[in-house]
Amino acid sequence: MPIYHQLGEMPRKRHLPFRKKDGGIHYEELMGNKGFVGPSSLLYHLRLPTAVKSVEPLRNVSWTAEPERVVRHRHFRTAGLETGGSPVLDRAPLLFNGDVALSMVTPEKEDSFRFIQRDGYKPLYPGFEAHDEPSGGENGIGFVGYDHTTSNFPTLAPAILWLEHVMGFERFWEIEFHTTDLVPDQSHGSGLRSIVMWDPGSGVKFANNEPWRPFFRTSQINAFCEEQHGAGIQHLALSVKDIIHCVRELRARGIEFMPTPETYYDALPARLEKLGVGSIDEDLGVLRELKVLVDGDGPGSYLLQIFLKESSGLYGESEAGPFFFEIIQRKGDQGFGAGNFRALFESIERAQAEA
Ligand SMILES: [Fe+2]
Repeated sequence: MPIYHQLGEMPRKRHLPFRKKDGGIHYEELMGNKGFVGPSSLLYHLRLPTAVKSVEPLRNVSWTAEPERVVRHRHFRTAGLETGGSPVLDRAPLLFNGDVALSMVTPEKEDSFRFIQRDGYKPLYPGFEAHDEPSGGENGIGFVGYDHTTSNFPTLAPAILWLEHVMGFERFWEIEFHTTDLVPDQSHGSGLRSIVMWDPGSGVKFANNEPWRPFFRTSQINAFCEEQHGAGIQHLALSVKDIIHCVRELRARGIEFMPTPETYYDALPARLEKLGVGSIDEDLGVLRELKVLVDGDGPGSYLLQIFLKESSGLYGESEAGPFFFEIIQRKGDQGFGAGNFRALFESIERAQAEA
């Protein structure tokens, strides 16, 4: 008796023309690793799947386990490991079993991505336990999950093509923003273009920025890439159900956030009116007190967000870098708070003019 497991939409019967939303036909592929005799999957692709032209071993792996395989405390002197090589090919194994290896490398070459083969092993690393339900803490802050990751690139096109054609991501949203139109004499400014890619199946979203002309070199995105010697993750957004409670709790624990000028809140009622959001559930005085930002895209559709201080400042450790966390609560708006770029820039200019 065959076992069928369906993920996503499928045609009524196998091998029928299966229409895409734009009227075209999905590409059908039968995929298995034992020809036509073993279990297989019937896949429907939006684009022609990548053809495998040849398979070559990257490296032969032969690791030797320590003969004395007793469980005891061990100190791995990783600082003494040789540096250099590639993150994928030159890792030195520290702990391994038949399913997974925990390795260490200080790479000097770049790999575009890392892939993990799990073969049914659920935990992240050996020795960890997988739980169907999260357990262990009370989650007093009220984090619900991951919302998006934002990265900065010197040039966006290769990264977007790679996400689209290799990883199967789709375009979700894009925007160009420049501050020159807010500077009367257009003598300076900073601009960016941002494209958000997503995987509709899992909902995973990657927002990707590149510097935008004019004043390309002084763009914040270009400055990031020059200082970090390449592309990298700028921030990671965690979602919450109650941002007021979350920010109060974090502030009480001494967590610092990026500052927001008072002028931002002076202009907020008029801005919400202009955005067509109307009234919001939260008290504007409380948002001002906690420095929570608001953006919206229609009647009753908005989001609340706030950014933690960048890690180097938060931890007093320059090597922690410019990375920072965002906290976001969505109330209908599926955007990323782009309206706050402009609102924050305008409020900083206004605060400087009033000073
Ligand atoms: Fe974000």
